[in-house]
Amino acid sequence: MLSSFLNKWSKYLKWIAGYWKPVRKYMVFLILFTLLSSAVALGFPLVFRYLLDNVQTILGTPDSSGFNRIILILGALALARFVAGLYPGARAIINSTIGILVRDDVFGAIMRKNWRFFNRFRPGDLTTRLTDDITDYPRIAWFSCSAFFRALESTSRLVFCLGVMFFMSWKLTLLAMAPLPVMLFIFYKVEHRLGRKVAASRKATSHTNDLLDSTFDGIAIVKAYRAEKPLAARLHRLLDERFDIDFSLVKLEMIVHGLYSIIGQVGKVTVMLAGGLMVIQHRIGIGDFYAFYVYLDMLLAPMMDIPNLFIASRQAFVSIDREMEVMDFPEPERYNNQAEPLEEVKEIEAVDASFNYPGGGGLKGVTFHLRAPSVVAVVGEVGSGKTTLLKMLAGLLSPDSGTIRVNGADIQTLNLTAAAGYVPQDSVLLGESVDENVRFGRETVSEKDIRDALAVAGIGDDELGENRVLGQRGVGASGGQRQRIAIARALAGSPSMLLLDDCTAALDAQKEEAFWDKLKSQSNSTLTVVVTHREATVKQSETVLFVSKGKLIDAGRHSDLLNNNPEYARVIRGMELEENTDE
Ligand SMILES: Nc1ncnc2c1ncn2[C@@H]1O[C@H](COP(=O)(O)OP(=O)(O)OP(=O)(O)O)[C@@H](O)[C@H]1O
Ligand SMILES: [Mg+2]
Repeated sequence: MLSSFLNKWSKYLKWIAGYWKPVRKYMVFLILFTLLSSAVALGFPLVFRYLLDNVQTILGTPDSSGFNRIILILGALALARFVAGLYPGARAIINSTIGILVRDDVFGAIMRKNWRFFNRFRPGDLTTRLTDDITDYPRIAWFSCSAFFRALESTSRLVFCLGVMFFMSWKLTLLAMAPLPVMLFIFYKVEHRLGRKVAASRKATSHTNDLLDSTFDGIAIVKAYRAEKPLAARLHRLLDERFDIDFSLVKLEMIVHGLYSIIGQVGKVTVMLAGGLMVIQHRIGIGDFYAFYVYLDMLLAPMMDIPNLFIASRQAFVSIDREMEVMDFPEPERYNNQAEPLEEVKEIEAVDASFNYPGGGGLKGVTFHLRAPSVVAVVGEVGSGKTTLLKMLAGLLSPDSGTIRVNGADIQTLNLTAAAGYVPQDSVLLGESVDENVRFGRETVSEKDIRDALAVAGIGDDELGENRVLGQRGVGASGGQRQRIAIARALAGSPSMLLLDDCTAALDAQKEEAFWDKLKSQSNSTLTVVVTHREATVKQSETVLFVSKGKLIDAGRHSDLLNNNPEYARVIRGMELEENTDE
């Protein structure tokens, strides 16, 4: 049992120690601070005793040197107290620094995950793990620094007091120490229950944040369906649930704290009785007993603090578990961002490539070969696997079997960030301004690239107002404008492979024609793969990939497929019908 307890501690300590390394210089400084603060607290009574005992002799000196000495001692004492007073502030700064380091790490890990991860963890939950779990007392940031120094402080005081007391009467000291093992035993007994309750409480916070996040994100739907009241009721239910969990946690903590203080006080009374008896029997002197009592009083606070720190550790460990769960979630074998960026996609080839979603959808055994320059249309009914195909070409989904090869090399060994431009089906804007959204953090993209890309994507200079600020997540743009900005984002990097998922629907027929003209005139070496529901777009293409029910049924020129594949002809007729009713 003890070994599993120690194993657990060593696992968490190892994790925390990883974040001490970058701040180790400050940690050394803090250790000195801790010792100083303890020395000041413990030495204070001794200095005063000296002053009180010697004040008459010192002041009795003929010159002013005695008086100066008193002033000097008091000054030094005041300075030491002042410096020791800075100590909690210094700890808080290191807590925050560690908090930032942990957040950087967890966020970086989240950024490397794939769809499987984001299917499992909701945004509100992730936000909770990146905020409350790290910064709130008594969680990771506080525990990683403050708790350790408090433990150091309490232990050093405990050892000092016990040392002095032991020197005075070892029997009384043993008696005074008796409560400590009892307290640790109580902690050991409730530790598991405490951990379970803390985990439930953290989960409940995540649920609440999930609800808030999806409500604010989907506020338009909430309004359209007049779902304000049911949502408020749901939030209230969640908060009630959270209250129950938190209340039972607080109850448990209060019981443990209460027991600790009763045990502590009983210990004190026992020592007084035993000590008093010893004085009556002349086994120790009254002066010694008094000093012993003063140190016993000093001992009580650290003796309570150490078991309390164990309780705090339970809270912090649950949060560390939550971060570990996120960080240890398997990372996808995406294309290799460490490799030299690939300059140009000359050809891309799928060899018997399959990808399966857990629910059964996906793509089975597709084989094709595309060469630049060319425009390739991907056609198929709703849910047939078009997006899946494009994501595989973008390297976002790695095949479960078979391979995707770019210029003859496995896509997973390459870095496609510069060579490929991908526009997803649901365009997401992240920044506040149009330019920010198009540049998307790439230093290689110039002002001119941005203007040119916006022009090709059909966004005029005057379309979005003079300063082109949209507001958070692009709320100031229409759905179509958002998709055109996303197209411009892909174009701005001058990619040699352009992957467009059903986004040209955001352009009206006239604008789309202009788009293809400009795109073709700008670059004559691009391989463009476009998922589309529009016959006009299909007609622009040199090759069509026709997918149905997760399989690549046919590939070839539009006119040939139209003549030879009745299934394809049926899908195209459906598209025409849709276009005509749209107009
Ligand atoms: N994240 C996911 N998890 C589980 N299954 C998924 C996921 N995404 C897609 N699928 C399933 O895989 C199949 C193919 O989906 P895909 O998105 O590739 O279709 P699509 O042809 O792009 O459809 P649409 O025309 O509606 O965009 C569908 O049956 C779908 O239910
Ligand atoms: Mg799709």
